[in-house]
Amino acid sequence: MLMTQFPAPSDVAGVYDGFGRIYRTVWGPNIHYGYWENDADDSSIEEATHRLTDLMISGLAAQSDERVLDIGCGIGNPALRLISACDVNVVGISVSHDQVAQATKRAAAAGLADRATFQFADAMDMPFPDGSFDAAWALESMWHMPDRSHVLAETARVLRPGGRLAIADVIQRGPVSPEGRVVLDHICENYAVHSLGTVDEYRMALAANGFVDVEIRDITDNVIRTLTLMADAFETVHDKLADLVGEEKATSLIDFVRRFGAIPESGYLFLTAVRA
Ligand SMILES: C[S@@+](CC[C@H](N)C(=O)[O-])C[C@H]1O[C@@H](n2cnc3c(N)ncnc32)[C@H](O)[C@@H]1O
Repeated sequence: MLMTQFPAPSDVAGVYDGFGRIYRTVWGPNIHYGYWENDADDSSIEEATHRLTDLMISGLAAQSDERVLDIGCGIGNPALRLISACDVNVVGISVSHDQVAQATKRAAAAGLADRATFQFADAMDMPFPDGSFDAAWALESMWHMPDRSHVLAETARVLRPGGRLAIADVIQRGPVSPEGRVVLDHICENYAVHSLGTVDEYRMALAANGFVDVEIRDITDNVIRTLTLMADAFETVHDKLADLVGEEKATSLIDFVRRFGAIPESGYLFLTAVRA
């Protein structure tokens, strides 16, 4: 019997299609955190979000003409940057039809349609043959997955032996305080997040699914500024948000993004691994 899993693809699509366009007006086309070198780094949101993509690009170390799977591709911005940097071919998947359409349009506009393909697909059940990719990455999509270990098993299946993996993901750190529990539960329930993983969970799941040469970096200190900046950015479009989702939800969104950035449980990792 099939178990109902949270979040369903339609839950995830609902979140991104819902306020995705407003989000883009304040945060830009990269649907992920920014990366700052240190406290003195005053890079813009655009620079910092590109820098996180660049960290993934260097971690993946893809070679020219390789075939790369982008698990949770958003509107394609990271994939197009990867192609421009490394001359690879990318297949991006998302559970939002709207994102797939936008990513496809952006690839054509960038003159990269021959290198980038985007399609609707669930990472829990990838429609690709075994060993059909040289590399894969998941840039901030794993926290949505109903079963991260299963997605890693699927990823190992579609990668060739020796294929490389890079992941950036929002994680949970340390024991959870009462305030932490309130904030984490709110984020998961309202934004189609299954749960936050931990460094230990990733280490175990990667080993269990045949990944070796695992390197994990906790980059929380470099990215956590994102949440305060995002709350500030959403404040500037509060009225538009309220028109879209209602006053109460708009206010709570901004409040919880800010609180998420303030709790010590809020973390972020960057990892690379190789499929044995
Ligand atoms: C935070 S966004 C990141 C988008 C993109 N990687 C970026 O950095 O701009 C999360 C992405 O994961 C995708 N996603 C979530 N669950 C998924 C699933 N089960 N299968 C495929 N994609 C999924 C969403 O549709 C969305 O594109």
